[in-house]
Amino acid sequence: MKKILITGGAGFIGYFLSKQLLKEYGEDVRLTLVDNLRRGRMDADFKELLEDKRVKFLNLDLTDLSAYSQFGNGYDQVYHLAAINGTKIFYEIPHEVLRINTLSLIYMLEWFRKENPQGKFCFTSSNEAYASALSAFGQLPIPTPEKVPLVIDDPYNARWSYASTKLVGELFVIHYAKMHNFRALIVRPHNFYGPRAGYGGHVIPDFCERIAAHVDPFPIYGADDTRTFCYITDAVRAMQMLMDSSKTDGQPIETVHIGDFEEITMRELAEKLFKAVGWKPKELDIKNGPPGSVKRRLADVSKLQSLTGWKPEVSLAEGLKRTYDWYLKNPSKK
Ligand SMILES: NC(=O)c1ccc[n+]([C@@H]2O[C@H](COP(=O)([O-])OP(=O)(O)OC[C@H]3O[C@@H](n4cnc5c(N)ncnc54)[C@H](O)[C@@H]3O)[C@@H](O)[C@H]2O)c1
Repeated sequence: MKKILITGGAGFIGYFLSKQLLKEYGEDVRLTLVDNLRRGRMDADFKELLEDKRVKFLNLDLTDLSAYSQFGNGYDQVYHLAAINGTKIFYEIPHEVLRINTLSLIYMLEWFRKENPQGKFCFTSSNEAYASALSAFGQLPIPTPEKVPLVIDDPYNARWSYASTKLVGELFVIHYAKMHNFRALIVRPHNFYGPRAGYGGHVIPDFCERIAAHVDPFPIYGADDTRTFCYITDAVRAMQMLMDSSKTDGQPIETVHIGDFEEITMRELAEKLFKAVGWKPKELDIKNGPPGSVKRRLADVSKLQSLTGWKPEVSLAEGLKRTYDWYLKNPSKK
């Protein structure tokens, strides 16, 4: 019987990862999901997941040291996803982003090394950890491999509060795993998208909400900035394949990019979404991206593919349609 713990289990990735693990391992798995529901929601989807007898939910705050006595132990795998996430929040409460993300990771690693060192630990870093290498050095290899400098080019720019927790988080995981001799993996998600990705702060949910409200002229921030978008079911399958691979069991631990290959501008993304949902504004309102926003982002995912043979299965058009349909049925309550 596989025993798996997921922190941030009520969040966007945590929910879909849970579904993926239940599908992959069938009756042979027990999941423990930990979340304080700060961002993850007790919505209809999550309630339905919790009805599954293979799933247990602990409503705990990972910055509270007393929470960890409720975890138990004997987990084969631990996915540490919990973090404060969402670009808008980085600007609003950078000090809390720093405190919560770093403190919860330190407490998790301390719990893991003492109580669960036979398991395998997965940390979700972010492309943000290297993103400001571009403004600092004026270049970044495209596609960007894992081995690029991790950079914060301006500590006064609140945007980098989150990035710095991922940068230092990677160091914590690398050196804890080495010094305490446990198996670990760092993944860097590159713009995962899909249903239930939150409201505000992510480009696709924002576009979906504006389309549903028929906002016209339609604002597009950083219209010529490029990104790739990886549909969530493809993304969590990559995470599971990496965690299950014995190729990621050794030292030094592996850091692996997860993302799609189709690079697209924000303007093209909007156009694709208009087409997928059958509505188009009369006018676009082109605006600058927020300060610190990265012009071009394209991950090199060849390492992921050589380790696992992973390939994305859901096209951008199909993924956008599924995402929009979910947001239409589940509008934000603001
Ligand atoms: N979604 C992406 O494309 C993306 C990109 C890069 C990195 N990541 C990373 O992947 C991880 C998961 O991201 P996500 O998109 O699912 O984010 P999310 O915000 O949907 O999920 C994070 C979950 O952590 C929970 N949480 C926050 N603080 C907590 C605390 N103190 N105690 C317990 N639970 C707490 C939140 O309530 C939330 O449900 C995060 O670490 C994020 O930084 C995601």
